Amino acid sequence: MNQFNIASSNIYDKLGGEAFFYKLVDKFYDFIESDELLRPMYPEDLEPGKSHLAKFLIQFWGGPKQYSEERGHPRLRSRHMQFPIGDKERNIWVSHMISALKSMDINQGELKTLQNYFEKTATMMINK
Ligand code: HEM
Repeated sequence: MNQFNIASSNIYDKLGGEAFFYKLVDKFYDFIESDELLRPMYPEDLEPGKSHLAKFLIQFWGGPKQYSEERGHPRLRSRHMQFPIGDKERNIWVSHMISALKSMDINQGELKTLQNYFEKTATMMINK
């Protein structure tokens, strides 16, 4: 449980569990792949990062804790320090995630909850 899903009991199961997050991350990465500003920040092979992001989100929203078993403590802000993230980068990242969310089969409440979470978390990554 965390501050974003206390009110909406078990949003993880409602969304469809692990499969939802793997699909969301695939769609999100489709946008990253063709983004001129963000693509160069990512390594040539996008697959490991895709897997890390999906497992992180699964763990965060109440699913299996595979992320921490493989990667240790998330330390998200410090892991992002190596990438120059300003308002512009943050906003583009969020806009791709929102586009990915909107392409999924979710209701308005779920969309708002996830959108709010991604917006706040992305703001915390700003480091320049
Ligand atoms: C604000 C804009 C953001 C940018 C530009 C950004 C960029 C990146 C990049 C370039 C990587 C490395 C990928 C790789 O090594 O393949 C990464 C990893 C990651 N990002 Fe972000 N990110 C942003 C926001 C976020 C947010 C909001 C979250 C979570 C909600 C997030 C979660 C992660 C996770 C879990 C990883 C993998 C960490 C690991 O190595 O275990 N990122 N990000």
